[in-house]
Amino acid sequence: MLRIEVAGIHDLPGAYRTCILTAADGQDATALHRDPDLLGHVYVGPYLARGLGTQLVIVDEAGHAGYLVSTDDTASFEAWTESAWWPALRRRYPRPGDGSRDARLIEHIHAPPLTPAAIAAEYPAHLHIDLLERVRGTGLGRLLMVRLLAELTARGVAGVHLGVSAENDNAVGFYDHLGFREIAREPGGSLMGLRLAR
Ligand SMILES: CC(C)(COP(=O)(O)OP(=O)(O)OC[C@H]1O[C@@H](n2cnc3c(N)ncnc32)[C@H](O)[C@@H]1OP(=O)(O)O)[C@@H](O)C(=O)NCCC(=O)NCCS
Repeated sequence: MLRIEVAGIHDLPGAYRTCILTAADGQDATALHRDPDLLGHVYVGPYLARGLGTQLVIVDEAGHAGYLVSTDDTASFEAWTESAWWPALRRRYPRPGDGSRDARLIEHIHAPPLTPAAIAAEYPAHLHIDLLERVRGTGLGRLLMVRLLAELTARGVAGVHLGVSAENDNAVGFYDHLGFREIAREPGGSLMGLRLAR
């Protein structure tokens, strides 16, 4: 039994778990973080909390097995996170100032990097996709992406982008295979983008 479902708020624990279990370039990042929730607060929580019907999860007999979270409009998503998502987390997590991975995520919470206007205009949507090892390599990543891209196309969205680590060869190969191309360099990786038919 394996299903793709539209995510609800009940998917938060499983999606947070998947996030940390895949965050070290596809491998388990649990040992790299003192607070296991920080990655989810940055890369999963706001998408599920805001909803809007495009958040997808994979579930099987063992529970949550993967997600594709996204927004169709990065600029309005960033405005929403600024008013509705980050403030409570800023109170929870004061800036610690050490160089740890947790500290870098807390810095992200306090000063989230904004997507350059030119990229948000040409590629308004963005996404994060992470599958647990047990369901990788069987076509589910493509299935989730095809479903999202069809939905974005139906909404008239011009394009979609995502960030990927330079060390994550598997993900870069996957995105490249689906037609994404590098559109900008970032510290430690790049942004890849795909224009959608309108
Ligand atoms: C990256 C990831 C989402 C891909 O999902 P997946 O289910 O493993 O990929 P699929 O089996 O759906 O592959 C889809 C297609 O991409 C191809 N593909 C997958 N990885 C590839 C690679 N590294 N290089 C070239 N092609 C690749 C497959 O051959 C397949 O081709 P086809 O459909 O034309 O036959 C998944 O492996 C994953 O979650 N990895 C760990 C977390 C991660 O790194 N997330 C990305 C963070 S930016």
